[in-house]
Amino acid sequence: MKKVLKILGILFLVVLLVVGGGALFISVRGIPSYDVEIPKYHVEITPEKVERGKKLASMLCVHCHKNPETGLLTGQHMNDAPEFGYLYSSNITQDKEHGIGDWTEGELLYLLRTGILPDGRYTPPWMVKLPHMSDEDIDAIIAFLKSDDPLVAPQAVADQPCKPSFLAKFLCTVAFKPLPLPEKTIPQPDTNDKVAIGKYYVQSLDCFGCHSASFEKMNMMEPEKSLGYMGGGNQSLKDLEGNQVVSSNLTPHKTGVGNWTEQRFVNAVRHGLVEGEPALRYPMMPYPELTEYEASAIFAYLRTIPPIENEVDRGVE
Ligand code: HEC
Ligand code: HEC
Repeated sequence: MKKVLKILGILFLVVLLVVGGGALFISVRGIPSYDVEIPKYHVEITPEKVERGKKLASMLCVHCHKNPETGLLTGQHMNDAPEFGYLYSSNITQDKEHGIGDWTEGELLYLLRTGILPDGRYTPPWMVKLPHMSDEDIDAIIAFLKSDDPLVAPQAVADQPCKPSFLAKFLCTVAFKPLPLPEKTIPQPDTNDKVAIGKYYVQSLDCFGCHSASFEKMNMMEPEKSLGYMGGGNQSLKDLEGNQVVSSNLTPHKTGVGNWTEQRFVNAVRHGLVEGEPALRYPMMPYPELTEYEASAIFAYLRTIPPIENEVDRGVE
């Protein structure tokens, strides 16, 4: 008996050491770093590209990187996910010292596709990654970041360093990994195929991350394989006061948007209005930059995906 206890005791100590050692390692090492292979890349800057890039960045980047006081992309303290630590979105104006003025196009492309910074550090889940965006649209975003648009004009505002929590470091060690640089070109969706256009926006504007069952079970590379794809119920979303706001079911089931008209959907997505009233809370931000046609294309695509029965309790009447 004594011997068994002794063995159990030793086993317990070993487990404790492994777990404790692992935790110490994660805590000290921080967010993991990876090898970087910055591609040679060049984007021709044209007014059309800058305009398209500004539209995409307004939907994908501006709400995080904009300083609410100045309206410029100099970064801000982000307080809607305190469990991930002290987060600060960087200055992405063209200031060479404090912003991204001296980044090459290859470094921007690499970060946006893979999530890896030029120094090898992985940008945690809160920074957007764009594995599904077409090459043309990625180029447009890069052209906008490099343009003379006032939003990105150089501003000498220093970044505050992020202080990721243990949870953030842990998740970036075990769950969130960098994405591969695409091996093939990613074409723009066929302009004659409304459903394909809708699918493109749902996947490249990241609607599916928030609108599927959870961030942990979402599949970045193959969105349709995310648990509860577009069926809503993601419990990790909060408003700016820290209150939970569960995401809606957007599948064609009657507990989703199955009974909605196209116009009701378009008004909700573009303006946050349902039956003429402001109805959608943060973090669901309206997308006024999408045209009527693009928003209706999203609706057309959502009509084609598997319906999921999931009555989401929004906690409001
Ligand atoms: C949900 C918030 C969020 C969104 C959306 C977002 N970012 Fe970021 N971004 C961050 C945070 C936070 C960091 C800092 C990451 C770090 O240092 O660990 C960052 C870092 C960066 C950096 C690195 C800057 C530097 O000096 O290291 C660039 C470039 C960047 N973002 C560009 C973009 C672009 C372009 C988009 C839109 C396609 C975008 N971001 C969308 C939060 C966001
Ligand atoms: C940051 C997370 C997030 C992103 C990204 C997001 N949504 Fe939402 N969305 C939500 C949340 C949360 C709600 C519920 C808001 C509420 O209850 O007030 C919502 C609600 C909606 C609704 C209202 C549905 C209803 O039943 O009332 C529609 C429509 C919608 N989103 C469409 C979209 C589309 C289309 C996209 C992509 C272009 C998108 N959302 C991107 C979080 C998000």
